[in-house]
Formats: sequence, structure tokens, C-alpha cells
Amino acid sequence: MKLKSELWYKVLAPRPAALVSTVSANGISNAAPFSFVMPCSIEPPIVAFASDPDHDTVKNIRKTKDFVVNIPGKGILKKLWICAKAFDYEVSEFEKAGLTEEKSKNVKSPKIKECIAHFECRLKDIIRTGDHVLVTGKIVEASVRDDLYNGKYNIKKAKPLMHIGGPDFGIVSEIINP
Ligand SMILES: Cc1cc2nc3c(=O)[nH]c(=O)nc-3n(C[C@H](O)[C@H](O)[C@H](O)COP(=O)(O)O)c2cc1C
Repeated sequence: MKLKSELWYKVLAPRPAALVSTVSANGISNAAPFSFVMPCSIEPPIVAFASDPDHDTVKNIRKTKDFVVNIPGKGILKKLWICAKAFDYEVSEFEKAGLTEEKSKNVKSPKIKECIAHFECRLKDIIRTGDHVLVTGKIVEASVRDDLYNGKYNIKKAKPLMHIGGPDFGIVSEIINP
């Protein structure tokens, strides 16, 4: 069947969900889920996500020039869902969702303690792409929970959340090989 033009991305799914954490100029933390997320370069390490330009996340990044891409596991799905609500600017989703701020090593934006992997990023570019902006960041430090990586990412244990659409998420239950 032909898809209406605004529905095409619904079948580019599932997409890995990330929680992007930032901080305002006044020091108030922010966290929001994003699934328009992709690696752009391995060396130098660059990650990108596409956002509505009016999101608080983008407002904060324009001011502080940094952000953290946090990878959530199955256990914090309910908290992620709370972070997607439209709170007023400078209302912290960390407090609303009961997430724990952890100081980052290299950037002002805090990490989310409950997440399984973290990419501390310095802003590279914000590029207008249609109705979204593409935010690219140079990863200055990447880390993953010790028990989830042993030469290979243990995805069945990590259970990263894959966004299907609306309130529907999946986790990888089967690994197949060619
Ligand atoms: C799983 C999930 C994925 C989302 N992905 C995106 C995305 O890639 N880009 C976007 O602009 N909004 C996305 N949203 C919506 C934002 O998370 C939501 O509007 C949020 O309130 C923005 O927060 P902020 O204003 O604090 O930045 C997503 C929501 C959910 C639940």
C-alpha cells in the first residue's frame, strides 16, 4: 500500500531509543527521549539526533554546547515515558521521572545513572532538516555498564529499548546470523 507522506518513518522501525540529557544556563537538568538517533562517524566519533527545533533539549544545547546521549534499558521504560511529557521549560524531568543525575566527566550536562550506556558529547552542528533540526555531537567519552560488554555487546542482557511507535516498544529476543 502507498503510505501518506507523513507516515513513511513509521516503517523505518524499530529505532533504538535514547534519552538525551542536557542542562539549562541556570543549571536545571532536562531529559527527553529521542529515536531519530544515528552514528555519523566512527573516528572521530560523532553521533546525531533529529529534534523538533522547539524542544527544551535543543534550547539547552544551543546555550551550553553539550549533551549526553544515554541508552535506556527495559527497566526504565515507565520513567522514559514520563520524560516525553511536555513540561514547562526548566522543570526537570529527572525529578518528575525519579531519575538520578550523575556528574559527567567532560561536559556540563549530567548523565542518567539508571541508563546502561552513556555518550558525553560536545556540540558540533545544528543543521535545519525540514521540520526537524539535526544535532551532531562529538563524543568525548563513551561508556557502557561493565557487565554488558565483554568484547561483544550483550544485547540480550542489556535489553535496550527499541521504539516502534506511540507507546509501543520492543526488545531484541532473537539474534540470527547469515
Ligand atoms: C520513544 C520516543 C521517541 C521520541 N523521539 C523523538 C525524536 O527523535 N525527535 C523529537 O523531536 N521528538 C521525539 N520524541 C518526543 C520528545 O521526547 C518529547 O516531545 C519531549 O517532551 C521533548 O522534551 P524536551 O522539550 O524536554 O526536549 C520522542 C518521544 C518518545 C516517547
